[in-house]
Amino acid sequence: RECHKGVKHLCETGIAKLPKKYILSEFDRPNLWKDGKPYSKFNENDIHLLPVIDFSELQGSNRPHVLKFLANACEKYGFFQLVNHGICSDVIRSMMDVSRRFFELPLEEREKYMSSDTYSPVRYGTSFNQTKDAVFCWRDFLKLMCHDHPLLSDMLPHWPSSPSDFRELVASYANENKRLFLMLMEAITESLGLITSRPNKQSTKTGGDGDQYENILEELENGSQLMVLNCYPTCPEPDLTLGMPPHSDYGFLTLLQQDDVAGLQIQFREKWVTIEPIPDSFFVIVGDHLEIFSNGRYKSVLHRAIVNSVKSRISVASLHTVPYRTVVQPSPNLINEANPRRYMDTDFSCFLEYISSCEPKKKNFLDSRK
Ligand code: SIN
Ligand code: FE2
Repeated sequence: RECHKGVKHLCETGIAKLPKKYILSEFDRPNLWKDGKPYSKFNENDIHLLPVIDFSELQGSNRPHVLKFLANACEKYGFFQLVNHGICSDVIRSMMDVSRRFFELPLEEREKYMSSDTYSPVRYGTSFNQTKDAVFCWRDFLKLMCHDHPLLSDMLPHWPSSPSDFRELVASYANENKRLFLMLMEAITESLGLITSRPNKQSTKTGGDGDQYENILEELENGSQLMVLNCYPTCPEPDLTLGMPPHSDYGFLTLLQQDDVAGLQIQFREKWVTIEPIPDSFFVIVGDHLEIFSNGRYKSVLHRAIVNSVKSRISVASLHTVPYRTVVQPSPNLINEANPRRYMDTDFSCFLEYISSCEPKKKNFLDSRK
């Protein structure tokens, strides 16, 4: 039962060994070391392969070239690091700082937000799904619903009121994050060769060129946004457990912000690769909904979090997709005889039902895949 109060609390009770509840079977353990060296460090010779996108270059004459690079990153890797994105570092640092201060609050304060209802606008918890997990993960989290932009103000009263500047700082970060997401999606739809602005705003959607118009951007503007604040305290035996099990994200894109402690691993060429944080950058993850929308051209990527015994770690993931009950399906403009439809319909509510009923969603089990 103590485990259900989270790993922060466990640490505060002063444990020297990892409790049984967190010990993964040998097969699922992270293999952190090999011959005394970090096992999953990116091979020095390959480091240049990791795609880094300079957002400011997308706005200039180099856009066509960057779009090609972006397409390649989404096809071959399922992620990219984003630099020069225009969100001011004060906003980002305040977000990370207030997240840390939230997790430092006494347990009584954090516990107020504990809930097993996946539809709750605010939900504090531990592990991946503490009501179902047989083995627990070394993570505490706070999930905040920020949908449907711009109705963030409806959500605010449900969010924690402590620390006292929490709502203000998180809301301003959430807004900036949404704006950046929409600009990225504009580039991504363009990189898929889709027409993103209606030829004539007055004309109806049917008939003429209007048929080719892609209205996904309008839907995403009113879409749902979920923010997940993650806390991974130092762990006495990090080789035996994980902060987050392997999974793919459900939405279109996840914009991840992490502090200066490495912990995120992505699967690349069948190996787990540790991502070294670039200060103030975003780590952008392609989610299942974008994979479906692109009819499989862009790939969602499996990732997980490892923990360590030296430094605690904070990350903030912002997951974006269409509004709740809006159907996600392959863009009709990307389906033809040579490239038939590869996915069934799904939506965000399917996902919420799904996580409340079973284990971490591993990409291989993507239930919307035909
Ligand atoms: C996530 O998968 O959403 C979080 C991973 C991390 O903490 O880096
Ligand atoms: Fe994730």
